[in-house]
Amino acid sequence: MPLDLPRLRNFRVSRRDEAAETAPPESPDRPAPTVRRMDFEFDQVPRHWFGGNAFATHMVNGLSVLFPDGERFFVRSVRHYLDQIDDPELQASVRAFFGQEGSHAREHQRTFDHLASQGLDPQPFLRAYKKFAFEFLEPKVSPPLRLAVTAAFEHFTATFAHQGLSGNDFDEVHPQMRELLLWHAAEEIEHKAVAFDVLREVDGRQSVRAGGMLIAMALLTGLWTWGMVSFLRQDRETNWRRSLREMIQIRRAGPIGNFQMLGMFFDYMRPGFHPDQVDDYALARDYLDSVGRLHA
Ligand SMILES: [Fe+2]
Ligand SMILES: [Fe+2]
Repeated sequence: MPLDLPRLRNFRVSRRDEAAETAPPESPDRPAPTVRRMDFEFDQVPRHWFGGNAFATHMVNGLSVLFPDGERFFVRSVRHYLDQIDDPELQASVRAFFGQEGSHAREHQRTFDHLASQGLDPQPFLRAYKKFAFEFLEPKVSPPLRLAVTAAFEHFTATFAHQGLSGNDFDEVHPQMRELLLWHAAEEIEHKAVAFDVLREVDGRQSVRAGGMLIAMALLTGLWTWGMVSFLRQDRETNWRRSLREMIQIRRAGPIGNFQMLGMFFDYMRPGFHPDQVDDYALARDYLDSVGRLHA
């Protein structure tokens, strides 16, 4: 029987659900997401492409390796409700969301061969991840909750994207990886409200949204750590002592590793929250414009 947290907790949801259904302000800046076909090169990317820091590199590798299958799950979760979306504008955004996530999955997957050529084979992790997340867990979760998990993950990716595009965290990243990450970041901001709006249209319960966030937070923390450790263990040029030193370095240098995730969590849990309340569509537009890809 699929897991349905909201049904289990129905007795607690009445007042908060009303708050969740109030219409949020829609940003006048919100763009129509645009699908861009990319073909990045990764041939020059060194093993420790994050400024020579092995820990930071494998931290992002551990996230990157989650994307292709994770993004295909996001598309499945939203596609389930495609025929229940009446608003033609949202329909169009949903189709562009499918296209963008498909491109992200493809481009991140193209880095896997390069990693394997450096002795960092992601396949054993990927096999276990797919088995656990999509063969074991996904069928146990009800469709509304799958959509809520997707909307919550989109909040995480949009927040990481905001961080990546607004700060200087990626200054030391190898240019070939930086291009991939910043393009992905910009498109995550472009479509950050799509899954959330589909969720509001098909199931406005605050309890569903909150349940999705709790599951997404647990999954992100667990799977990301697992992915990162799988790379650190394969990397013969690093060890636990070096990792500890590098972890402290990035903790001092920037926001990675601080309590940002907790802040993101609490923000999203607030009744009445909407992704458009974070004013950052211009960040995405300016970046895409600067690389000549604003209009595909
Ligand atoms: Fe994506
Ligand atoms: Fe996304």
